[in-house]
Amino acid sequence: TKMTFITFDGTSIPVEAENGEILMRVGQRCEIPGILGECGGTCSCGSCHVYIDESWRDRVPPVKELEQMMIDSLMTKQDNSRLTCMILVAPELDGLILHLPNPNL
Ligand code: FES
Repeated sequence: TKMTFITFDGTSIPVEAENGEILMRVGQRCEIPGILGECGGTCSCGSCHVYIDESWRDRVPPVKELEQMMIDSLMTKQDNSRLTCMILVAPELDGLILHLPNPNL
């Protein structure tokens, strides 16, 4: 499953993800800047935050309550914010585009 991370300065980073893999782990494995996953994927640090590209917003699984609470605590949150530790790679996400938040906030 191919995906693309786009850094805050506009650099595209294409990645190859395994189905069933946690998206945060993909970011760590591919050394995507800003995908730190400091809490190990327990939805409690916010260091795996991305923005879902507008063209994909309706096609990712919906946000759950715990994730929304964590997102709401982030200064950089937007309507299209998601935590990558809460998203599993699946074939239907092939082509997914993710934007990284401003690293200076
Ligand atoms: Fe900590 Fe996702 S890795 S919230």
